[in-house]
Amino acid sequence: MSSHLLSVDSLSRDHVDHLLRVAARMEPIAQRRQVTRVLEGAVLGNLFFEASTRTRVSFNAAFCRLGGSVCDTTGFTFSSMAKGESLYDTSRVMSGYCDAIVMRHPEQGSVAEFAAATHVPVINGGDGPGEHPSQALLDLYTIDKEFTRLGKSLAGAHVLLTGDLRYGRTVHSLIKLLSLYAPMRLTLVAPPGLEMPSHLIDLVASRGHRVEQRDSLASDFSDLDVVYTTRIQKERFTAEMSEGFSLSRDFTVDRAFLDARCSDTTIVMHPLPRDSRPDANDLDVDLNGDPRLAIFRQTDNGIPVRMAIFATLLQVEELIEKDLRPVRWFVPGRVGVDDAPF
Ligand code: NCD
Repeated sequence: MSSHLLSVDSLSRDHVDHLLRVAARMEPIAQRRQVTRVLEGAVLGNLFFEASTRTRVSFNAAFCRLGGSVCDTTGFTFSSMAKGESLYDTSRVMSGYCDAIVMRHPEQGSVAEFAAATHVPVINGGDGPGEHPSQALLDLYTIDKEFTRLGKSLAGAHVLLTGDLRYGRTVHSLIKLLSLYAPMRLTLVAPPGLEMPSHLIDLVASRGHRVEQRDSLASDFSDLDVVYTTRIQKERFTAEMSEGFSLSRDFTVDRAFLDARCSDTTIVMHPLPRDSRPDANDLDVDLNGDPRLAIFRQTDNGIPVRMAIFATLLQVEELIEKDLRPVRWFVPGRVGVDDAPF
């Protein structure tokens, strides 16, 4: 694995398996049973030039749970990029202050350009419609954990990717990551004009996976193992695309779809945020409390996976177990009021 995490392209199957194993070892810390200080003294720079809740906060929390500290800037307005500073200069400056940097930026390729100017590890937290490798890793970790619970395996699994497959960077990284594993069946359903880029379909097909594109959710999905749905990325639309666009309810994943077309063991994932405004027709809230809804288990998994990314890039993964002590504060048994028990 290189010293940066910019794209899933830099990861081999062995790298991914190693990262997921390290993530599993982080669980006692992520679940607030143990404390470690292996990154004591280290500083993370969190640079977010696009909206974010989960990615920004979970990278921050993951670094803190390893004992490090975090400095951040949010948006262009309060950074020197608003004064015309280049990615090169910003990178060189930040590298003098920080031991690792996470960056999110609206332009595809910008995080790689930033990383090219530094030896300090840089993690791509999302570059426009490009990639979001840490999200794909936590998605795969979630699928693996859910499949273990359900007694399933990735080999031959049927995964549905739906929503905005054109601009959704999480599905771009995820489809590449899944393609490193045993041949599976991938079904893609997107509204017209928002289909998965053809180079990604060709890549996955060339690795022996069965890829099928359908134009609606109105068919039989009874053998489906995962439905991964995504938000429509209207902020990336051209003015022409935005005009009059509205998402038909036919693309909505809700309880009726799951009950009528899927099975009791189909899990529902979404990178979040889901757009809960009435006309958005994103993943429906009527699935809250349904054990098949894995979205908050998925967000929780962001912590151990991002801890594993830091521990690996900063080469402390072998020290974790040497440095553990029990937590001393109150921790609730279950985090959310709707969390389904198993
Ligand atoms: C996504 C993103 O920013 O790419 N969210 C995330 O990081 N979990 C998805 C989105 O914005 O729709």
